[in-house]
Amino acid sequence: MSAPVEDLDRIMAVMTTAFPPDYGEAWNRRQVSDSLLIGRTRYGLIDAQGRPDPVDASSTAGFFLSRSIFDEEELLLFAIAPACRRKGLGDCLLRRFIDEAREMGMSRIFLEMREGNPAGILYRKHGFQQVGIRPGYYRSLEGDRISAISQELRL
Ligand SMILES: CC(C)(COP(=O)(O)OP(=O)(O)OC[C@H]1O[C@@H](n2cnc3c(N)ncnc32)[C@H](O)[C@@H]1OP(=O)(O)O)[C@@H](O)C(=O)NCCC(=O)NCCS
Repeated sequence: MSAPVEDLDRIMAVMTTAFPPDYGEAWNRRQVSDSLLIGRTRYGLIDAQGRPDPVDASSTAGFFLSRSIFDEEELLLFAIAPACRRKGLGDCLLRRFIDEAREMGMSRIFLEMREGNPAGILYRKHGFQQVGIRPGYYRSLEGDRISAISQELRL
């Protein structure tokens, strides 16, 4: 799946605001477009009303980016713009992602997140369970080591 330029704009509009700069989690435009050329990579968008087709970059509230191998899908990036948070949009987009994965015949979704990220609360609400930990995997700009938590959802 490659993305039209307009969708790259929509993804990057959220990417540049959504991730805290301390951990280097945001991807640049080239990383996103290259990942979408690989195949078995897909993305989804959401606007502030919960619709999947934002009219332009400025009305894009969130996105996900994922990659599948056989019947397993990895959620690589998932974000809602700061101005649009705590309104149920992350919940809506995650539910859509999971439903689509199920329809595509996936049997397992996998993701990795920084320990302590509040996103973990949302993931747990959708049934994700911790399956591993990589101690000190991430390093913040201040040099602090933060563990990576692996989570899975069996479909
Ligand atoms: C994580 C994220 C996607 C949540 O998006 P959101 O639209 O605010 O989420 P929702 O409004 O749908 O929240 C649904 C539930 O998740 C939980 N939740 C979400 N954000 C939370 C937070 N900051 N603190 C505590 N609980 C939170 C709550 O239970 C919430 O329900 P409630 O609002 O009724 O209490 C968003 O904060 C984000 O983009 N963070 C930065 C990027 C990131 O870290 N992505 C995940 C990478 S692994």
